[in-house]
Amino acid sequence: MRFSRLLIPTTKETPNDATLASHIYLIRGGFIQSVGDSGLYNYLPLGKKILDKVRMVVKEELDKVGCQEVSLSFVTPVSLWEESGRADEYGKELLRFKDRKENNYLLSPTNEEAMVNLVRQTVKSYKQLPLNLYQINLKFRDEIRPRFGLMRGREFLMKDAYSFHATFEDMQREFTVMEETYKRIFTRLGLNFRVVQADSGQIGGDGSKEFMILADSGEDDIVVCDACDYGANVEVAENAKDGDVCSCGVPLRMTKGIEAGHIFQLGMKYSEALKATFLNEDGKAQAYEMGTYGIGVSRLLAGIIEQNHDDKGCIWTKESAPFDLQIIISNIKDEDQVALGEKLYASMLEKGVDVLLDERKDRFGAKMKDYELIGVPHAVVIGKKLTDGLVEFVTRDGMEKEEISADGIFELLSERF
Ligand SMILES: Nc1ncnc2c1ncn2[C@@H]1O[C@H](COP(=O)(O)OP(=O)(O)OP(=O)(O)O)[C@@H](O)[C@H]1O
Ligand SMILES: [Mg+2]
Ligand SMILES: [Zn+2]
Repeated sequence: MRFSRLLIPTTKETPNDATLASHIYLIRGGFIQSVGDSGLYNYLPLGKKILDKVRMVVKEELDKVGCQEVSLSFVTPVSLWEESGRADEYGKELLRFKDRKENNYLLSPTNEEAMVNLVRQTVKSYKQLPLNLYQINLKFRDEIRPRFGLMRGREFLMKDAYSFHATFEDMQREFTVMEETYKRIFTRLGLNFRVVQADSGQIGGDGSKEFMILADSGEDDIVVCDACDYGANVEVAENAKDGDVCSCGVPLRMTKGIEAGHIFQLGMKYSEALKATFLNEDGKAQAYEMGTYGIGVSRLLAGIIEQNHDDKGCIWTKESAPFDLQIIISNIKDEDQVALGEKLYASMLEKGVDVLLDERKDRFGAKMKDYELIGVPHAVVIGKKLTDGLVEFVTRDGMEKEEISADGIFELLSERF
């Protein structure tokens, strides 16, 4: 892609309501744009690209373990939520409205009811189980305090999966599969995270786990052990404090996390309420054992930046980066710089590398500022030193610069990409 053709409205101005690095840089880097009403955002080309990349990582890992993607309607009839009893229970986060015939609807904040409704219309027998269905689509929650940009929006992208089983043991087996799958997703995205025990309501035990991105700006207090993998949300480890001793003998540490994922053993709560049954081996109707598994896909974008930024801007991780490589031509009036830049660009495109060529007329300083703000992991800077046959290979993390000969750069790039 050519920078001059791309809609990347970078700006020096920090939005008034922004305090977190991720919020500031996602706006300043031209990834997203506030709709002017809190908690609602437009994704501009770079933001959409990253969202799709993160979405793809989530999808690939889920598909590998046999989950099937579907997409439920964003609007849900309130009658389904009356069956589960949540229509009155859910509170003001639920946005409700009527159609022209005075029928009641809601904008889905989560989809247990709708997914149970799908399954009760399509699955009849234990032979069709287990089943794990997921979707990656918009959710709406009328949050009391939408804030921190994508971290707590009102409209946001969520991956929600629901599994259906004939037995409690099989549901627990799937819960473990999902925990491992989530670990792979978070690892691929380059995140430093912890899995912590969370409130499991009526199920008890280890029936609920949250995936926390470790960051000082996190809204959740968690307690972790650095020796074993124990971790818990302070909501469930109520009296825990810094220095308490873990069951493995090592002192516990209190820290902050961003909740990016949540897996939950639901049991029969929704299948019983919605009378969703299948015929078991004995030919008897039985309610499904269920699990539910969420990931805040748009929140992940904010989480990645909370962990990976400096005072200049974003430092995207390999699998989340908007481009693999940026080529910066310092002075587009210099024919040699332009010729080399174009040649490198063409050869990278040829190899299938996702490359951004900055061939704008702007000053060199402005281009470097944009590079630092946007945060593509690597760049080749073609500047004045080209007269001595040299270019620079830049690594965004730490802004390390390596001088390379203009011929050598082709080889270096073909090794790296
Ligand atoms: N308002 C929001 N904006 C962006 N992502 C969200 C929002 N609310 C929830 N999520 C994401 O969706 C995932 C699944 O939703 P879940 O109902 O478990 O969240 P939650 O417990 O309400 O989260 P929180 O405690 O942060 O409000 C969460 O783990 C989180 O990553
Ligand atoms: Mg919430
Ligand atoms: Zn421990």
